[in-house]
Amino acid sequence: MADTMTSDHFKDATRVDRIEVDCWGLLQAAVHDKSCGWRLPVLATCSHGELRQRTVVLRKVDAQSRMIFVHTDVRSPKIKSIDGNQNVSWLFYDAMRQVQLQLKGLATVHTDDDIAEQVWQDETEFSLRGYMAPYVPGSVRLSPESNLPDEIRHSVPDRVQLSAARANFAVISCSIDTADWLLLRPEGNLRARFIYEGSSVSHADWLAP
Ligand SMILES: Cc1cc2nc3c(=O)[nH]c(=O)nc-3n(C[C@H](O)[C@H](O)[C@H](O)COP(=O)(O)O)c2cc1C
Repeated sequence: MADTMTSDHFKDATRVDRIEVDCWGLLQAAVHDKSCGWRLPVLATCSHGELRQRTVVLRKVDAQSRMIFVHTDVRSPKIKSIDGNQNVSWLFYDAMRQVQLQLKGLATVHTDDDIAEQVWQDETEFSLRGYMAPYVPGSVRLSPESNLPDEIRHSVPDRVQLSAARANFAVISCSIDTADWLLLRPEGNLRARFIYEGSSVSHADWLAP
C-alpha cells in the first residue's frame, strides 16, 4: 500500500518543476482520498494579534488558478478573523508519503455567490448537516452539546430539511502565493519553495531542508 501511494507523486525528486506539478496533483487527489493526510490541513489565521489554527477538510482544488477551498459555518470565529486579515497559512502533512506542504495566501469568504452555491450543491447531505447547528459555534453551553437538531442526530437530512442551514454556510477560498514543500527521506530530506504571481510560478527554488 505504502509503495503504491508513494509511487504516484514526487517520484522524480530531482526536478523542481515536477515537484510543483505533483504538489497540485496530490492536493487535487486529497479532496477525494480519505487516506491522504493532505485532505485534513490545518488553517491558521491571525487577526488583531490573535493567532488561531484549526483542522479543516479540503473540499476543492483548482490547480490552474492555484486556489483551494474549504467550507465552514459563517458564524464561526475564523470568519471574523479572515474579515480582519485575509492573510492565512495552511499546513498539510501526509504521514504515509512523509511529505509536508506549507501554503500561504489570501483568503476570501463566500456566502451568496456562485462559488458558495456550487460547493453547497456539490456536497453530500451528510457533510452539510453540521450547518443545521442551532447555536453559534464556540458559544458556551451549560451541558454537553452536539449542536445538531434532535431529528437529524441519527440520520441524514434531505435537501428540504437542509434549506434553512444554507444561511449558515460559507466557503473560504484561498489564492495561494507561496508553497513550501518538504519530503522526508532516509537518504536525506528535500525541500523546495514555489512563489506564484497570479497563477504562474515566478520562482522555484530548492531550499536547504
Ligand atoms: C478532522 C476534522 C475536520 C474538520 N473539518 C472542518 C471543516 O471542514 N470546516 C470547519 O469549519 N471546521 C472543521 N473542523 C472543526 C474545526 O477544526 C474547528 O473546531 C471549528 O471550525 C471552529 O473553528 P474556529 O473556532 O477557529 O472558527 C474539523 C475538525 C476536525 C477534527
